[in-house]
Amino acid sequence: MKQVSDISGPKRITTRTIAEMKRKGQPIACLTAYDFITSRLLDRAGIDLVLVGDSLGMVFQGQETTISVTLDEMIYHAKTVVRGVDRAMVIVDMPFMSYQVHADDGFRNAGRVMKETGAGGVKFEGGERIAEMVHKVMQAGIPVMGHIGLTPQSIHQFGGYQPRGVSPGEAKQLLRDAKVLEEAGAFSVVLEKIPGVLATKITKSLRIPTIGIGAGIHCDGQVLVVSDMLGLYEDFNPRFVRKYAHLAQAIQESVSGYVKDVKAGKFPSKEESY
Ligand code: KIV
Repeated sequence: MKQVSDISGPKRITTRTIAEMKRKGQPIACLTAYDFITSRLLDRAGIDLVLVGDSLGMVFQGQETTISVTLDEMIYHAKTVVRGVDRAMVIVDMPFMSYQVHADDGFRNAGRVMKETGAGGVKFEGGERIAEMVHKVMQAGIPVMGHIGLTPQSIHQFGGYQPRGVSPGEAKQLLRDAKVLEEAGAFSVVLEKIPGVLATKITKSLRIPTIGIGAGIHCDGQVLVVSDMLGLYEDFNPRFVRKYAHLAQAIQESVSGYVKDVKAGKFPSKEESY
């Protein structure tokens, strides 16, 4: 349990570091990861938070939504991610139906994630509706990240991926959700695909940091899905994703170069042989 044993190390990011970053106005950088190699690269590049998102259902497993992801799958991926990280705090998404039926399920399952993966905290989608459970989980010593706005586990209820919090009624409810999560003890809250003006208002009204995705520049931090920002998946191009690389193209070019060399008898060379 590397993450627990060296939690007091000077460089380890903890909930205290994250709270301090908000107080000092230092932006928080977060990306998703689903495996050891990626999390090691993110950690070495200075990422603050690594989120083992249930987006892995879509970008890793090729499913249409995140709904089918299981707790066992999240735990499997989280274990590999934690092994790659020395500095960043690892947060694990609680998948659909691991906490919605009863607060006690969420409590027990969050405990399982912490015990089996060595992660630093868990994330739940929802606001006021899950506040009692968030409080219970937090009281057990488990850091909780909230997630409101466009919450992908409710995609069938929303009927699509349009921005949330656009109507005055829904904007008011999201502000209330954020406040209630803070009062319940969440250490941070993800704001997904909501108007920048609303995200700014929520960010200013909270003591805990907001982490935005498609929520404008005035959140305390930003999160993106790693395969989106690395350009690994070319078919998904929403305007909130900035592509920092075009790895799909680079991988395809590399692989076709290898195939060509093998077929032409040009690989391996003498130097690459024993
Ligand atoms: O599952 C995920 O990757 C997420 C982020 C997009 C916030 O929840």
